Amino acid sequence: MINLSRNSTEVFNYFTSEKYHLTPLCNIECTDSLLSEISSICNESKIYTVLFHELCGGLPYTGKHARGWVEWAHSGWNNNTHFCFGIFSNSGKLVAACDIKNNNIEESEIGYWSSISHPGIITNSVIVLGKLARIAGYKSLMGRTVHQNKASTRVLLRSNFVPELSRRDEKYDYFTLTFQQRANQAIKQMGEPTNVE
Ligand SMILES: CC(C)(COP(=O)(O)OP(=O)(O)OC[C@H]1O[C@@H](n2cnc3c(N)ncnc32)[C@H](O)[C@@H]1OP(=O)(O)O)[C@@H](O)C(=O)NCCC(=O)NCCS
Repeated sequence: MINLSRNSTEVFNYFTSEKYHLTPLCNIECTDSLLSEISSICNESKIYTVLFHELCGGLPYTGKHARGWVEWAHSGWNNNTHFCFGIFSNSGKLVAACDIKNNNIEESEIGYWSSISHPGIITNSVIVLGKLARIAGYKSLMGRTVHQNKASTRVLLRSNFVPELSRRDEKYDYFTLTFQQRANQAIKQMGEPTNVE
């Protein structure tokens, strides 16, 4: 079973070197100010268009949507099924989020969004997320971006995800980050190489 650390981890902004906190959402209370921070970011044009336009039927992302997301995040941690993190500024304001979407150790998809007001934080958060996932026992993570989403593709490439060209489909490009455990397993399956003189 996956057992992801519930501790907060420090993450640093690429441009400003300011300290942020990658915090499991199970540690965060669902307050009105958190809900309003989430709604405000999720209504930012770029994030809304990519992630929420369809979900919200073209209407604004509301506090009710935010509450549903926080409750879903808490249930994921409580049941060890999915793992959502908030990225908080040093003053405690939510600025971004990322998650591991299931507990399949072979491969789990990740997701993320980040406020336009805090550029420079999400790649470094995804890099840390990858380290936490490896420590928890995942063998690989997968990121999926619609073809046009170049900003997201750049996040994955900077975080050492490798494009999986053979998986590309009509809508998405796929990228994976594979940890040593999977490489070891593949080597075991191949059998020990024998010396051929
Ligand atoms: C995709 C998204 C999270 C990217 O956010 P972002 O603020 O551009 O991402 P970063 O903070 O990692 O990078 C911003 C800039 O910082 C720099 N940077 C950040 N971390 C860096 C690092 N470790 N090394 C080098 N440069 C870095 C880069 O210059 C980068 O700009 P570039 O991508 O134009 O080259 C954001 O656009 C978003 O929320 N989009 C909508 C939701 C979405 O698409 N989610 C993903 C679904 S698959």
